[in-house]
Amino acid sequence: MDEKQDIKLKEISTWDENYYMACFGKRVPLVVDHGKGVYLYGTDGKKYMDMIGGIAVNTLGHGNGRLVRAISSQAKKVIHCCNYYYNEPQTLLAKKLVEMSFADKAFFANSGAEANEGAIKLARGYWYKKGTPKPKIITATMSFHGRTMATIAATGQEKFRIPFGPVTPGFEYVPYNNFEAIKKAADSETGAIMLELIQGESGVHPADFEYVQAVRKFCTQNNILLIIDEVQTGVGHTGTFFAYEQYGIQPDILTLAKGLAGGVPIGAVLANKMAATGFGPGDHGSTFGGNPLACAAGLAVLEEIESKGLLSNVMNVGAYVQKKLNSVGKKTKRIAEVRGKGLLIGIELESGSAADVKMKLFEKGYLVSSIGSNVIRIAPPLNISKFHVIKFISALQDVLEGKE
Ligand SMILES: Cc1ncc(COP(=O)(O)O)c(C=O)c1O
Repeated sequence: MDEKQDIKLKEISTWDENYYMACFGKRVPLVVDHGKGVYLYGTDGKKYMDMIGGIAVNTLGHGNGRLVRAISSQAKKVIHCCNYYYNEPQTLLAKKLVEMSFADKAFFANSGAEANEGAIKLARGYWYKKGTPKPKIITATMSFHGRTMATIAATGQEKFRIPFGPVTPGFEYVPYNNFEAIKKAADSETGAIMLELIQGESGVHPADFEYVQAVRKFCTQNNILLIIDEVQTGVGHTGTFFAYEQYGIQPDILTLAKGLAGGVPIGAVLANKMAATGFGPGDHGSTFGGNPLACAAGLAVLEEIESKGLLSNVMNVGAYVQKKLNSVGKKTKRIAEVRGKGLLIGIELESGSAADVKMKLFEKGYLVSSIGSNVIRIAPPLNISKFHVIKFISALQDVLEGKE
């Protein structure tokens, strides 16, 4: 790093410390300048392979032509107009998502937490309108559903909840992948069960196929709505557009966010006809949600995934990465388990600290995230090539073998 760049990092990190709330702890020492394809470029003049894609957000990588054109041409037309009026990108994106999925209706928000707030409200509103309020929602321990008051209440990890209580009541937590626990917790007050199909934030833990099938059946038999949180798994990261497609089920309500508009903030609640009746006029809304800019970006992302066949790329490259990671594990004896689907992958280390491995990879020009003490997570853009992942895996092997 030359002296000028070093000064830039010092300046920005000092201002960050002085002026930004201390939510993110010590950040990776990189000031991002711009991105192109699978790379982010720092003000240090170095390029970094973005293997975390803004935490499963940069679906098409950086500076994708179709996405940039869609955003800039929409910005020239109109960015925001509020929901008093119709706007074409919003309607087209809702239509497209409905046609691609189990859903009959869509609603747009601005983030994953906000989409989940909408899903929770929709489920409660549904039972209230039916005249049989059933406010209880069962979620899983170690789940993550967001940082707002209702979504920290839904999140089955005490550390996100306890300091901010009292949180929204009405949630009960049961161990993940344990159907008996769900049966035991469900009662006449239970209106919904809310699950992730891969618990991304707990260290990339996939749900078992039989578990999800059993939960779906149980919900149908007992008049309980099934909410699937696909904020992290949705938009192709697992190799199918929605992860639920790989479980042979259909939810009643599903949430999306992260990758849907390739980096422009958006969230979505999808619901079948029955569940969607939970909202009538005036029951829910959003000033920004569904604005033309975000929805035009969402449409461009969906078009690019379709026209470039990115889902099969995720399947192929994802299977290749998992295979190669397993052989790195055998060679180095440093990997306990490789988990995940498609390109949403958790690498649990046998020994050593995930934060150290993350920083060593950073020094070599690769960006990943570490979860807890021993998991490295990757969620790169869906259009990443084998050429790139080969370089990443070789860098990871060097780090695990302690090579400089
Ligand atoms: C499964 C899941 N749900 C909800 C959220 C919250 O999304 P956001 O940070 O956009 O509010 C996340 C974020 O990591 C997530 O992984």
